Amino acid sequence: MKKISLVIFVLAVSLLSFFMNSCSATSELSASKTGAQLWGENCIRCHNAPSPETFSDTEWDVAVMHMRVRANLTEEEALKIVEFLKTAN
Ligand code: HEC
Repeated sequence: MKKISLVIFVLAVSLLSFFMNSCSATSELSASKTGAQLWGENCIRCHNAPSPETFSDTEWDVAVMHMRVRANLTEEEALKIVEFLKTAN
């Protein structure tokens, strides 16, 4: 009986670490992307990606805050996108 619960425990731990590894792999992928890449991939999903010249720095702060919620972006992704838009406007 003890042996069986040990086997189940070991299986559970390896399954858990498998899932944890695959999660961190995805976030590393997104973390290595530049603001320009994230903008190109995310901001065209629902409408044409607005070009950086469309708005001033302050307006981009507001627009990206709004779109962060719509596009379900992480804080890091939104910060990179807003930084890219501000350097290119
Ligand atoms: C999930 C869909 C979706 C994604 C992804 C998305 N948007 Fe939007 N966006 C909208 C919708 C819907 C509107 C219409 C205004 C509103 O949200 O009330 C809009 C409006 C806008 C506007 C205002 C347009 C105007 O001319 O007034 C800007 C600017 C904008 N989006 C920028 C962005 C940027 C930058 C990104 C990438 C970070 C982005 N959007 C990603 C759905 C999206």
